[in-house]
Amino acid sequence: MTEKLADIAAAMVAPGKGILAADESSGTIKKRFDSIGVASTEDSRRDYREMLFRAGEGMKNYVSGVILYDETIRQKAKDSTPLVDIMKAAGSIPGIKVDTGAKPLAGPHPKVEVVTEGLDGLRERLAVYHKLGARFAKWRAVITISEGTPTWNCIKANAHALARYAALCQEASIVPIVEPEVLMDGPYSHHDIDRCYEVTEWTQRTVFRELYDARVALEGMVLKPNMVIAGQKCAKQAKPDQVAELTLKCLKATVPSAVPGIAFLSGGQSDEQATENLSLINQIGGAPWRLTFSYGRALQAAALKAWGGKSENVAAGQRAFTHRARMNSLAALGKWNVQQEKAA
Ligand code: 13P
Repeated sequence: MTEKLADIAAAMVAPGKGILAADESSGTIKKRFDSIGVASTEDSRRDYREMLFRAGEGMKNYVSGVILYDETIRQKAKDSTPLVDIMKAAGSIPGIKVDTGAKPLAGPHPKVEVVTEGLDGLRERLAVYHKLGARFAKWRAVITISEGTPTWNCIKANAHALARYAALCQEASIVPIVEPEVLMDGPYSHHDIDRCYEVTEWTQRTVFRELYDARVALEGMVLKPNMVIAGQKCAKQAKPDQVAELTLKCLKATVPSAVPGIAFLSGGQSDEQATENLSLINQIGGAPWRLTFSYGRALQAAALKAWGGKSENVAAGQRAFTHRARMNSLAALGKWNVQQEKAA
C-alpha cells in the first residue's frame, strides 16, 4: 500500500468531519425529486447538487468528502466550472459510486435477496475515475433480514464482491469505502435490534475475512456500516442508548483497529435520530477508529425540502444543509445535544 491511501483515508474521517453521500443513481434521485414535485432532469440534478457543493461553511467545516454518481463527476456547474472543482475548492475529496446496483440473487429467495454487481470492467473504470479526480470509491452491498434470510450464500457472495472491489480500488490508488448494509427499512423490516445485531456481526465478520483473503490493506479503507437498530416495522423500537451500545459492541467484535475510520450510513433513520445515535456512540468513547457519518438522506432531506426546485430557495437549502452538517459534525465529536439542534 502506498502512503497515500492511508493519508486519504485519514482525511476522509478527520475529526469533526464526515462524508456527504450524494451518489443517488438516476432512479433514486428521481424518487427524491418526486417527493418535492420536481422533474428529474440533467439540469435539475445539477442545480440541486451545485447548491449543496456551494454551501460554503457547511462544506468547508464539516464535509471531508462527497460521493458522486457517474453523471455528476463529469458535470459542470451553470457557470461551466466542473462540479468536482467546486467541491475541491471547498476542501472536499471527490469520491465515486462504482457499483452498478443490487440485483436479485438467484437461489432460494430471488425476490428478497440481492447481490451487488459491477466488477466487470471495474479496473478500467477506476482508472478513468482517478483521472476525473476521484480519490475514493463506494460499493454498497445489501443484506435483507426476513423469514429465512439472510442466507450464508447471500452474505458470502456480497462480501466476496466487496473484497474484490476493494482490492481493485487500492490497485488504482483509490480508497475503497466498504459498505455492507443490513437494511432497517423496506417491506421486510420487522426484525428487532437483537436480530440486527446477529446479522450485522455475521456480515461484518465475513466481510473482513474476505478483505483479508484479497489482501486489502485495512489502513487504506473506510468501513460504512449500518447501525445496530430495530427494523422500521418492528413494534419494539430500541432506545438510542441501546442502539449506541450495541452498535459499538458489534464493531469492536468485528472490525480490526487497523481500519482508520467508520462512517455510518443513515439507512432510513430520521435526521435527528441519525445525529443523536452517532453522538451517543461517540460519547461512549474508547474506540480505536474514528466514528463519523456518511449520510445521504439524513444530510439532505431538509435541504431538498427547503430548496423545492426553486432558484430563489438556494440560500434556504444551503442553510438547511449547513445546519445538518454542523449537527452531525458535533455528533462525530460526541458533542451534539438537543439545545444546539433547536438553537438554529
Ligand atoms: P443513506 O444515509 O440515505 O442511507 O445513504 C447512504 C448511502 O450512501 C447508501 O449507500
